[in-house]
Amino acid sequence: MRSGDLLADRYRLGQQLGRGSFGEVWTAESTDGRRLVVKVLRPGAAARADVVTRFAREARAAAMMTSDRVCRLTEARTAPPGPYFIVWEHQGGETLEELLARDDLMSFDHVAPILDDLLDALIATHAAGIVHRDVKPQNILVAVEPDGRVRARLIDFGLAKLDDDGDELLTTDGQTLGSVAFCAPEQIEHSREADARADLYALGTVAFYALTGRLPFAASTPSALMALKVNQHPPTLSSVTGEQWPAAIERWVATLLARQPSDRPASAQAARHELSQLRLGAGERPRKRGGKRAPAAVTRTETRVKQPKRR
Ligand SMILES: Nc1ncnc2c1ncn2[C@@H]1O[C@H](COP(=O)(O)OP(=O)(O)O)[C@@H](O)[C@H]1O
Ligand SMILES: [Mg+2]
Repeated sequence: MRSGDLLADRYRLGQQLGRGSFGEVWTAESTDGRRLVVKVLRPGAAARADVVTRFAREARAAAMMTSDRVCRLTEARTAPPGPYFIVWEHQGGETLEELLARDDLMSFDHVAPILDDLLDALIATHAAGIVHRDVKPQNILVAVEPDGRVRARLIDFGLAKLDDDGDELLTTDGQTLGSVAFCAPEQIEHSREADARADLYALGTVAFYALTGRLPFAASTPSALMALKVNQHPPTLSSVTGEQWPAAIERWVATLLARQPSDRPASAQAARHELSQLRLGAGERPRKRGGKRAPAAVTRTETRVKQPKRR
């Protein structure tokens, strides 16, 4: 596919946003002038029944989502003979990954509303019987709304598990579902059994990454990383940043990152409620830190935590 191509006689492709093993994501403009995003299966991939089945599942999951914290699907074509594509409304802003690549660290006050929106999205996702299984910064869009509020949306239901169908592992050649860096330990070993609480673990990893600039675990190979997640307790925010974090924030992140799903919050709703309590804890917040918002006088500790390169 190329910029300027007309898809299905009505979507003019603009700029390529992403390229996976099977599909491409493009900005597009419809012939009636709407700004959209289309995910299109490449012809080779469209010839594979398993890939088309997975793509249809993504479309079905995305179509079930009515939360305004999830991008709105406007059309999906997943029936033969193709072309196969899914269309969403285009959202402004940028991914959390892009935002963090620039700002490096975010303060708790800055991250909290984003986490709140994502938990809102997960509440809707789980209520629909869907486990997202791929919550990570690249799949989170962050935008400043006209009223000045920073809002986040969850995207990419490409690995979603739906309640109502047998989930044969449609991964690419036995790969773990989801990004190893963010996925829950049980997702690594028993992808099929991973439930809504796996999404909470991934969200905990997103929180840890945004607040500290580091992932809870790092290793040189995916299998070594998996072993760490399965066998070791995650570090605390304080141990990674060298600064004292409020106990309540440490606890909230730590329960999301619990190795056993039963030790995590029981639901996205519960995690969101706990987050709202944290946000009310006046005087409990760590001082503003990180990225462009760092105070003029940066302490040694702050200098140190900003150095590690993101993976
Ligand atoms: N509705 C949207 N509005 C704006 N950008 C989007 C939208 N959907 C996806 N994107 C961008 O396209 C990228 C790829 O989309 P995604 O659905 O995550 O596909 P992939 O399966 O390739 O990861 C995202 O990381 C994001 O940058
Ligand atoms: Mg994605």
